[in-house]
Amino acid sequence: MARTARIAPSILSADFARLGDEVRDVIAAGADWIHFDVMDNHYVPNLTVGPMVCEALRKHAVGAGGTRVPIDVHLMVQPVDALAQAFAKAGADWISFHPDASTHVDRTLQLIHDAGCKAGLVFNPAAPIDALEWVIDKVDLLLVMSVNPGFGGQSFIASALRKIERLRRLIDASGRDIRLEVDGGIKVDNIRRAADAGADTFVAGSAIFGQPDYAAVIQAMRRELQE
Ligand code: DX5
Ligand code: ZN
Repeated sequence: MARTARIAPSILSADFARLGDEVRDVIAAGADWIHFDVMDNHYVPNLTVGPMVCEALRKHAVGAGGTRVPIDVHLMVQPVDALAQAFAKAGADWISFHPDASTHVDRTLQLIHDAGCKAGLVFNPAAPIDALEWVIDKVDLLLVMSVNPGFGGQSFIASALRKIERLRRLIDASGRDIRLEVDGGIKVDNIRRAADAGADTFVAGSAIFGQPDYAAVIQAMRRELQE
């Protein structure tokens, strides 16, 4: 199923002292989603932001004419459930978690749906994807980590391409409407490879926020995807 590409800048590499403006600026520059990385210094060796910051940013995540721009919450936390519910209340649209961080993956997916959000599973570079076999009917998004989670600005791990290819086949065989997102080390010069492997949603942090002209980077990425 050919799907419209979505570019999801990760605010992990934005200026944290001006997050509201950064969100508005990157949306004006063409961002489709806002990727919101939540790290707990337990599941990953870094600490970022919680539901209060998501709630504060919700009013800034609007496009032209006041349209709602989805906030794509990537939970790198353990345990998952209480925070997933808190982010749903804080205005998240998509909530993804690492299955190895949840004791009861099926329950976590259900509670994200019950809270009114779309639910995703995230797979680390060396993580198996077998949990998916039992819950593919309950996911709206699959997120392939192409770096080890915890930091922005790392290099793309090439084996992620094979994982994307495999997940693309599973999604297509399921016939379900599931987005396939890639996160980590995505740049203008490799986004096309991820798309060719089957990804349709692209997180990019340092590639966008590390440049002065966000629109130029996002446009260059879209050109790569179209060629
Ligand atoms: C890493 C995060 C990513 C990160 C990507 O744990 O999940 O979303 O911000 O940053 P870049 O695009 O710089 O690799
Ligand atoms: Zn992320």
